[in-house]
Amino acid sequence: MEKITPRRFAIIQITSADQITPKMKTSLVELLADSVAHNYSVGFMNDSTPQDYEEFWQQEFSKTKSSNGIFLAVEGEQVLGSVIVTRESRANGKHRGEFRKLLVHSLAQKIGIGSALERAATEYARSIGLSLLFLDSATNFLVEGVYEQWGWKMSGEIPQYAKNPDGELVSTWFFYKLLNTEK
Ligand SMILES: CC(C)(COP(=O)(O)OP(=O)(O)OC[C@H]1O[C@@H](n2cnc3c(N)ncnc32)[C@H](O)[C@@H]1OP(=O)(O)O)[C@@H](O)C(=O)NCCC(=O)NCCS
Repeated sequence: MEKITPRRFAIIQITSADQITPKMKTSLVELLADSVAHNYSVGFMNDSTPQDYEEFWQQEFSKTKSSNGIFLAVEGEQVLGSVIVTRESRANGKHRGEFRKLLVHSLAQKIGIGSALERAATEYARSIGLSLLFLDSATNFLVEGVYEQWGWKMSGEIPQYAKNPDGELVSTWFFYKLLNTEK
């Protein structure tokens, strides 16, 4: 994949697994492989396989009708980034959703795709009536100001919460965004 330049991407919502073409499936696997190769804490380890990544996406796409709002940044059929909003299904938490898997391929970072995905996820959460989003993150530059810039508030840190792909235990920070008070 060659380096992506600004304004060559679009954000699309995936409402059915049928929208995923073979080329998109390959680049979704590549997106997770790239994150793991860069040692980002994204739920997988160095020994995770392309099959693990493919199964992960299949599982997520199977829940678009029930609980998942999935947005992809794409250039044609090349997936450059992702974000998932997962709605809580328990009766006392249906007003909240978890903001998950904000990922941008290393060759497409720092041109605004992450910010565009965050905006799409927030707009979607509001549009389906959620009043609270929450997330956990171990990404230093995000927790040191970017999430705040996007309107999130930090609620705290848990040490040794997750492992990086290389096995190192790292702290994770928890954030929330109240949607009925944000503009
Ligand atoms: C976090 C991530 C999604 C950001 O995506 P992106 O497309 O590069 O984000 P943007 O281009 O919209 O930039 C958002 C902000 O982050 C800053 N930023 C992006 N990459 C950065 C880096 N490596 N170091 C410091 N700041 C960085 C940008 O400067 C921008 O801030 P600004 O608006 O003040 O200029 C991407 O780096 C990524 O996928 N990281 C690995 C996975 C991960 O950590 N995901 C988060 C898990 S919760």
